[in-house]
Amino acid sequence: MTITKFLPVKSDGVLQMQSVSYQSPSNIALIKYWGKHGLQIPKNPSISFTLNTCRTTTTLSWNERTQHKDDYEVKVILDGKHKPGFEPKIHQFFGRVAEYLPFIKDYAFTVDTSNSFPHSSGIASSASGFSALALCLMEMEREMNPQMSQKAFDQKASFIARLGSGSGCRSLKGPLVVWGEHPEIKGSSDIYGIEYPYQVNPVFDNYQDAILLVDQGEKQVSSTVGHNLMHNHAYAPSRFSQAIENLSSLIPVLESGDLDQFINIVESEALTLHAMMLTSNPYFILMKPNTLKIIENLWQYRRETKIPVCFTLDAGANVHVLFPQEYHEDVQDFVKTELSTYCQDNRYIFDTVGNGALKL
Ligand code: DP6
Repeated sequence: MTITKFLPVKSDGVLQMQSVSYQSPSNIALIKYWGKHGLQIPKNPSISFTLNTCRTTTTLSWNERTQHKDDYEVKVILDGKHKPGFEPKIHQFFGRVAEYLPFIKDYAFTVDTSNSFPHSSGIASSASGFSALALCLMEMEREMNPQMSQKAFDQKASFIARLGSGSGCRSLKGPLVVWGEHPEIKGSSDIYGIEYPYQVNPVFDNYQDAILLVDQGEKQVSSTVGHNLMHNHAYAPSRFSQAIENLSSLIPVLESGDLDQFINIVESEALTLHAMMLTSNPYFILMKPNTLKIIENLWQYRRETKIPVCFTLDAGANVHVLFPQEYHEDVQDFVKTELSTYCQDNRYIFDTVGNGALKL
């Protein structure tokens, strides 16, 4: 279905630039997106903290093609090396967005990209990568159509990023982004992410995320396969309603700063995501023994110290440890001395919540 509001307006503007660069962060969901339909439409609303240190930097450069063609021309460079293996994914993305950015057929592109986090860290780069690429493409459109308002730019950039990777549409802004229609969140939409519009307690300012790299290999289950597992899943309907309810419950918690409730919602969401994979057909266990060791240690630490740390998980074995800034010395020490022993090669990344993408 074509979303007419994002179709290009006719413009006489010309493109002077020959390249543009953006840096875009990764994000970590508190209420998880798991299940989609149609063209990247989520089955339930989600909300994430935008990260800061884990970033993708992308320079998009282009040359005019001599003749207009019906295909796309794109070369992908990752960390300075040509990676033809990534090109089909960008072709597929271009195919999805061409209707909204028709000029992409007129240019031969080079996408030169690098991640601040190690390639083999098990941290997905698709959200930050597609967010950065969408912003670069939108910057081209803005040059051809300078009247475009900042709001229209932001919405369309998130819309375009979503067509590359669903969670990517939550990586442009920060510190909290909602994606997916929710009855109590004004302006929320299935087709782009919005900045969380309500009051947030200062306890969440500069919230910390220690990412524990338990398994740095390739993802065991690709996100496409993973989301597909929710089709005809016995528990899918109740899971989608639960996500809506959990997001409703999170609204007053974000305002009051009630960390006990926050922890309860966030950890339950993470475990539910994994429960969905445990109970799908085919079924997957994406945690590793050390994922559980970390969770048990973290729970013991929380009981003993009363420090309000909690964990969340992506669709993999790595653990995100979330905690307020005021405890960063204690928790960093705990991570370095204890939790890191359960990480592959003792590796972890200290990140914080951030404000979104940056034009370079
Ligand atoms: C478990 O955004 O990677 O991280 O839309 O297929 O690119 P695609 O999926 P993707 O899914 C992310 C799922 C998750 C939860 C979340 O980030 O909300």
